[in-house]
Amino acid sequence: MAYTVAIDGPAASGKGTLARALAAHFGFAHLDTGLLYRAVGARMLDGIEPLAAARALRADDLDPALLRTQAVAEAASKVAARPEVRQALLDFQRAFARRSGGAVLDGRDIGTVICPEAETKLFITASAEVRARRRFLELIAAGQAVTEAEVLADVRQRDDRDMNRADAPLRAADDAVRMDTTEMGIDAVLEQAVALIAARIPG
Ligand code: DC
Repeated sequence: MAYTVAIDGPAASGKGTLARALAAHFGFAHLDTGLLYRAVGARMLDGIEPLAAARALRADDLDPALLRTQAVAEAASKVAARPEVRQALLDFQRAFARRSGGAVLDGRDIGTVICPEAETKLFITASAEVRARRRFLELIAAGQAVTEAEVLADVRQRDDRDMNRADAPLRAADDAVRMDTTEMGIDAVLEQAVALIAARIPG
């Protein structure tokens, strides 16, 4: 059985945490598609041409521990605005989405471009201030030297770039269910999402 859960939303909205929890709950495979763009961004910072990096990408390149820095996030958002880079990463994501046994993908264009036929689409949002606070706490817990103001400025800049690019901008699919995590805790969001997905699993 192919069953796709498409989760989109801005940086630090809680979509990654939700995607991992849903995949564990239903026994589905999970792909954090932001890591693909981060891996290409990291290569660009090493001086490699982004399209060549996207074409040569391997599963081993997707180590979250190495890719969760502010510099890599910024580079990812830049390479993600290039249509040829997005195109090079398309087939892998589509095949992952329709693999048998179920898949959860989180990103910016999963419900709109990668898998418009997804059985369940969720669009997760939260205020920029709350998202910056969450990301700031994660980054300092990982030992990075950043201030909350820097993280908020970065979140705003990335939102602007991700929402206003010409190719596959961040937006909710018309049939996506919107959830705002500004005040709702992850447990409440997870409970709602589990119920939505379960109601759409055949049989
Ligand atoms: O979710 P993230 O912060 O790891 O994503 C890093 C960047 O990659 C983000 O600024 C936008 C881009 N991205 C994208 O354009 N499309 C996706 N499906 C996932 C991420």
